[in-house]
Amino acid sequence: MANPRVAVFPGSFDPPTLGHLDVIRRAARMFDRLVVALLENSSKQPCFSLDERAALLRTIVSDLRNVEIDTFGGLLADYVRARKATAVVRGIRGATDFDYERQMAETNRHLNPAMDTVFFAPSGAVAHISSTRVREIAAHGGPVHGLVPEAVADALAARAGANRPRTPQTKKRKQS
Ligand code: PNS
Repeated sequence: MANPRVAVFPGSFDPPTLGHLDVIRRAARMFDRLVVALLENSSKQPCFSLDERAALLRTIVSDLRNVEIDTFGGLLADYVRARKATAVVRGIRGATDFDYERQMAETNRHLNPAMDTVFFAPSGAVAHISSTRVREIAAHGGPVHGLVPEAVADALAARAGANRPRTPQTKKRKQS
């Protein structure tokens, strides 16, 4: 292909959700190649390691031939330039996301005027999903099915099982 249209979808994906997958599928239809790029060395303490998140992403996009999973450090604008991409893809769920995303898009445009940010609105059924809420639900042993792909739900269940104390913590009742 002479000039493939390459886009980068950056993020923490901790964990990847059905909202992310919805955006990935939409963007993969619009661009010749989509690079889903995981941020290395985020200041946030992740639930899943970088390698675990990359493996989960590879599993859930395995049917999409033009989607690649990669990791990046440093400035997104530099990574986009290095990948010869012209667009950054981000999902916008609502007004709260918009202000933050617009500021980030403008900053990236300042750093790399050759790139644009393309916003996707996730479909209504998944527009409420956030990785933060998913982690919170999973931490309390709640159901995450319908919020994340099956592979991610299994990984969260395995993580919850591994973190469960070996001896059940039951409160001793006072004898009356
Ligand atoms: O999924 P997230 O945590 O909302 O993703 C944020 C991300 C990775 C897109 C953003 O933190 C980022 O691009 N970091 C790289 C550093 C950078 O380029 N900063 C300047 C532009 S805001």
